[in-house]
Amino acid sequence: MALTTACNQTSKTESANSPAAANKPASTAMLDKKPGWWKETVVYQLYPRSFQDSNGDGVGDLKGIVRRLDYLKSIGVGTVWLNPIYASPNDDNGYDISDYREIMPEFGTMADFDALLKGMHARGIKLVMDLVVNHSSDEHAWFKSARASRTSPYRDYYYWWPAEKGTPPARFSTFDVKHDAWQYDAPTKSYYLHYFSKKQPDLNWNNPKLRQEVHNIMRFWLDKGIDGFRMDAFQFVAKDPSFPPIPGVTQATFTNAYNHGPRLHDYLKEINQEVLSKYNVMSVAEGAGRNTTEAMLFVDPARKELDMTYTFEGTGVGSDADTYKLTDLKRVFTHWDSAFAQKGWQAIDLGNHDQPRMVSKFGDDRPAFRAASAKLLNTFLLTMRGTPYCYNGDELGMTNSTFNGIADYRDVAARNAYQLLKQQGGDQAAFFHLLARFSRDNSRTPFQWDATANAGFTTGTPWLKVNPNYVAINQAAEEKDSSSVLNHFRQAIALRKDHPVLVHGQYQLLDAANPHIYAYTRTLGAEKVLVVLNFSSAARTWSLPNGLKPTSASWLNNYPTLKMDSQLALQPWQAVVVKLQ
Ligand code: GLC
Ligand code: CA
Repeated sequence: MALTTACNQTSKTESANSPAAANKPASTAMLDKKPGWWKETVVYQLYPRSFQDSNGDGVGDLKGIVRRLDYLKSIGVGTVWLNPIYASPNDDNGYDISDYREIMPEFGTMADFDALLKGMHARGIKLVMDLVVNHSSDEHAWFKSARASRTSPYRDYYYWWPAEKGTPPARFSTFDVKHDAWQYDAPTKSYYLHYFSKKQPDLNWNNPKLRQEVHNIMRFWLDKGIDGFRMDAFQFVAKDPSFPPIPGVTQATFTNAYNHGPRLHDYLKEINQEVLSKYNVMSVAEGAGRNTTEAMLFVDPARKELDMTYTFEGTGVGSDADTYKLTDLKRVFTHWDSAFAQKGWQAIDLGNHDQPRMVSKFGDDRPAFRAASAKLLNTFLLTMRGTPYCYNGDELGMTNSTFNGIADYRDVAARNAYQLLKQQGGDQAAFFHLLARFSRDNSRTPFQWDATANAGFTTGTPWLKVNPNYVAINQAAEEKDSSSVLNHFRQAIALRKDHPVLVHGQYQLLDAANPHIYAYTRTLGAEKVLVVLNFSSAARTWSLPNGLKPTSASWLNNYPTLKMDSQLALQPWQAVVVKLQ
């Protein structure tokens, strides 16, 4: 069942800088432009559709974000990654782009975008855009032309299988109602390929013209002054156009079956050489191949491809069950850390717009434990090695939503999975149970600003239901409460900024087999800190390993006190960062 993107499922296996300084606007002066700045930044992922509506149409927009820029500055994030804001018919919420150089009218105009970028830079915040080029929309001018005639100059921007050659070799689509990645198109009696929905035809990267188009699109945005790209589904772009058989692909194996096609790294090297190396920007790939060895190919600095990558294995822990094992989470994060211990760099995240809310999945979102467990998870994100990616709303401890039936869901993945279920007469109760836990709409509900109608998100009807718990969980309330999840998040960010050990320090897991406590040290030169996280809703004690001598200084604690002698007495979901001698 395609409840989430298959490319976000658990993998079962394991800059150069030549600044665009010449045309740098004066307002960027306070931006950190040191080489490697992207290692030290904290990325805030902002889902524009749900952040702030400014005109009452129920859809978040760029002017709305501008209104909230002081808030972004106040929390201390260094970089914002904006989900797609380009022109799109919104089959997959902007991941189906019909014009890469236009802003989606619902979100505003290019002037609004320019104002947003300027406003961010004026506050010392960088902006990273989503680059969605595994596929375009079927409403893109390229595809409209390509599907109209076999001799269109844009025909080879996409993959076609002429019907006279018979049925094309099976390819699995993660969003398609029938999971068939080939869609028959009558005007030219051919099938086209779509790994995602049938409104997202895959672009043909074997075609150098297409690659140049993408380079030009990247330059267009970089010349406006943006600070990098998050490269959507990029690991899927490379395909063998002869389509040799790849049998037996399912939702569970989709990612690993298709994520390492021929010439993938040639395309990345070309992008680096032609575009990225000419700007002081960051690049991050969604997905990292089948294992850590393949992930290194994306980010080994000597290869000159990308700066960092993120894997689905961490967020994928426990993705098909009601619970997860902490020992699995520890094993996965430790394994991925060790892969980049000598070179390369990774992104650290526990949630995004394709995942459930992190506190509902990895914490305990019941009222008694929600705040403590959200603080613990933020402590984790901000004390690991790698660049933290914090998803909007997680700084408040926003939770999974409650929806009543399929009509409340908006996600193409959920809706198409429901179609399939109905056709097959599947178990509805089990389906809705899974959806409630894992649907991507859980994390896409409107941002909870205050306790007024619709959480202050819109004066109209929100495009997706606001979580009813906004009355209690909202930014305005947390702002006033010094012990809120929000204020703890601010402290954790400030701590990371002040202490390079939390960014660059070596990571060492302690007590690997402990099923409730996740403990590790970070060491940089003479500086050493201990992070202890009680991943459980019960009080626990934890004995300090021999040789570890804490100072009395606790750098961060999500409870007012900490009992510590040879043992730590930890409250439910207590999370502490302690300086060691
Ligand atoms: C990525 C995006 C997801 C989208 C898919 C297709 O996984 O994060 O939201 O549906 O790519 O573009
Ligand atoms: Ca709006």
